[in-house]
Amino acid sequence: MRVVILDSTEAVSRFAADQVAGAIDRARETRKPPVLGLATGGTPLGLYNELVQRYRDGILSFADVFSFNLDEYVGLPPEHDQSYHYYMKESLFRHIDIRTENTSVPQTWNCDLPASAKAYETKISHAGGIDLQVLGIGTDGHIGFNEVGSSLASRTRLKTLTRQTRSDNARYFASIDEVPIAAITMGIATILEARSILLLATGANKAKAVAGCVEGAVSSGLPASALQLHPNVTIVVDRPAASLLQHTEYYEDSERVRAKLQSV
Ligand code: GLP
Repeated sequence: MRVVILDSTEAVSRFAADQVAGAIDRARETRKPPVLGLATGGTPLGLYNELVQRYRDGILSFADVFSFNLDEYVGLPPEHDQSYHYYMKESLFRHIDIRTENTSVPQTWNCDLPASAKAYETKISHAGGIDLQVLGIGTDGHIGFNEVGSSLASRTRLKTLTRQTRSDNARYFASIDEVPIAAITMGIATILEARSILLLATGANKAKAVAGCVEGAVSSGLPASALQLHPNVTIVVDRPAASLLQHTEYYEDSERVRAKLQSV
């Protein structure tokens, strides 16, 4: 795992945007349409603002990019302002040149939910798999809506939300009673099939989850720890989110060595 500790949330967003742009370029070099895995929540908003800015500045195009979102609530229509369909449209898609038909968010409204989850897996593999999967992390270490206890072999499926997740996400709703009770989420095995993974975390409330993800035992008790099994993962955090890591000095040394070797 590469662990990058930065001084501000803005630096985290800029670094993440560089990684996304790099993944797009690399896919194009192999003459393949780039496929991004995207996340929602407060954390990636800075990344999306940065991507929109780069598009407006004419230095980044999404014209041939395909995207797959991690998850969607069950029980909210796509036009609901707390649905992840709406979030993606408002935070990113309508501001850039991505083609709407190339963007995918799990379908959960007025449909057969298990069939929808299965179809999502098929759609990802037909697109050739995900080049770069962007992730946030829940305060309890969940990724997507893979709640604590999720099988490390899980695929896209229907998942009941924990009380912790519903209470963390209640800030976006009028009351906790309005927070959906379930979601369709990519599974942990689905996420681990991405060719590279970028997890973003900012703020002291993520410090425990980040420490468990990077330095804890691999366990369904902290779903993000499964990322240790993937050969190409970058964890980008600000200092408060890094505050419970034991090996900060080593991660910083590694970044210095990386910079030095790249400059020779
Ligand atoms: C939700 C999403 C996750 C996200 C998490 C943290 O549970 N399903 O993908 O990582 O919230 O969100 P935030 O970035 O707002 O803390």
